[in-house]
Amino acid sequence: MSKTISGFSKLSKSEKIDWLVNAYFDKQEDTKTILKQYWNSNDKLQQLHDEFIENTITNYYLPLGVAPNFLINDKLYTIPMAIEESSVVAAASKAAKFWLDRGGFKTSVISTTKIGQVHFIYKGDHARLKEYFNTVKSKLLEAVKPLSKNMEKRGGGILDIELRDKTAAIPDYFQLHVSFETADAMGANFINSCLEQFAKTFKSEALNFEGFTTEEANIEIVMSILSNYVPDCLVRAEVSCKVEELTENKSIPADVFAKKFIQAVKIAEIEPFRAVTHNKGIMNGIDAVVLATGNDFRAVEAGVHAYASRSGSYSSLSHAKIEDGIFTFWMEIPLALGTVGGLTNLHPLVKLSLEMLDKPNAKELMQIVAVAGLAQNFGALRSLTTTGIQEGHMKMHLMNILNQLEANPEEKTAIVNHFKTHTVSHSAAVEALEKLRQ
Ligand code: MEV
Repeated sequence: MSKTISGFSKLSKSEKIDWLVNAYFDKQEDTKTILKQYWNSNDKLQQLHDEFIENTITNYYLPLGVAPNFLINDKLYTIPMAIEESSVVAAASKAAKFWLDRGGFKTSVISTTKIGQVHFIYKGDHARLKEYFNTVKSKLLEAVKPLSKNMEKRGGGILDIELRDKTAAIPDYFQLHVSFETADAMGANFINSCLEQFAKTFKSEALNFEGFTTEEANIEIVMSILSNYVPDCLVRAEVSCKVEELTENKSIPADVFAKKFIQAVKIAEIEPFRAVTHNKGIMNGIDAVVLATGNDFRAVEAGVHAYASRSGSYSSLSHAKIEDGIFTFWMEIPLALGTVGGLTNLHPLVKLSLEMLDKPNAKELMQIVAVAGLAQNFGALRSLTTTGIQEGHMKMHLMNILNQLEANPEEKTAIVNHFKTHTVSHSAAVEALEKLRQ
């Protein structure tokens, strides 16, 4: 059976599966059974998922968990999180409860501007290009009116178009650098459609511009695309309390804990090897909510990490200080999120997640997501600077180990009880289970 195929996308789902299992699997019937186990028995729901992407063969499940007790600007939330890593939801819940008793999280949206660019090549006099840009700018805006009309009704639209000269880096390379407000939409489709229209109009109008020579009028569009770098779509999240209130971990005095915590943050501020892991912990919280609310976590990841490098050296996204006896821990991050469009109206669990959050607008969702990131970071740093991360991690991971070992419910209860007072490791779990089974 050939491992290549043409016209695959035109086959029916079962034909696709037949070809795949014949070409790549030894136990063909077993493979088909697994794939079908993950189909939804509700045909309509299954079809919806089949049609999200091309070549769907089954569904890939992640758990959807919730972290309750998040107090954000005096409003209570239970936050939905879609994630596979065992300790994330537990850590978020614990941090939420901790800050619930200390005034909760305070957040604000700093800015909501998004960026898109038309990248083009122009061979000619720079002053004449500037002149052309100034004449064509209003025509560019006019040309996207059919696209921007609706967005303007919702409070969004095109904020500005700039001509940027990048010829110092690449010969003849220029950009139309466009800023957008996309209201409650993440805005990728709106931005990209506007950019493609700008590119068309910019190229065609150049042929009519009398100031250009024939060569100059031949503007070459390279590409038109939004940027996932959104340093001006920023949200801030913060917690603070008196140093003496940082008392939850009895093994360490509050002031010692506060100082150690701040030291850990300072290390992440100056040491990229640590900063990447520190920020990964933040993204544990952020991605889980971004995914649960049907947003694009790859876009968020790309934008956040670029922002973490904006000084030229990769650094911590969060910061901490003690001032006048008050401990403050905060973060400012770029988040381009939507609560309309995309999956938000399509995926039943996304709709449910947004309803759980009281149907937030995009700005509210930015604040909730930032809080999930800060809470996660707080939880990780608290463990790291006190008990170490493995204690909690391995306790949560124990269930995965027991499932791998095919422990039955009674065995699971007994082993979980055993590890309340013993250190969890893979080999210790195997040993304990073997002993129990003897
Ligand atoms: C694990 O997923 C995340 C942590 O490594 C984050 C951190 O080190 O801050 C615990």
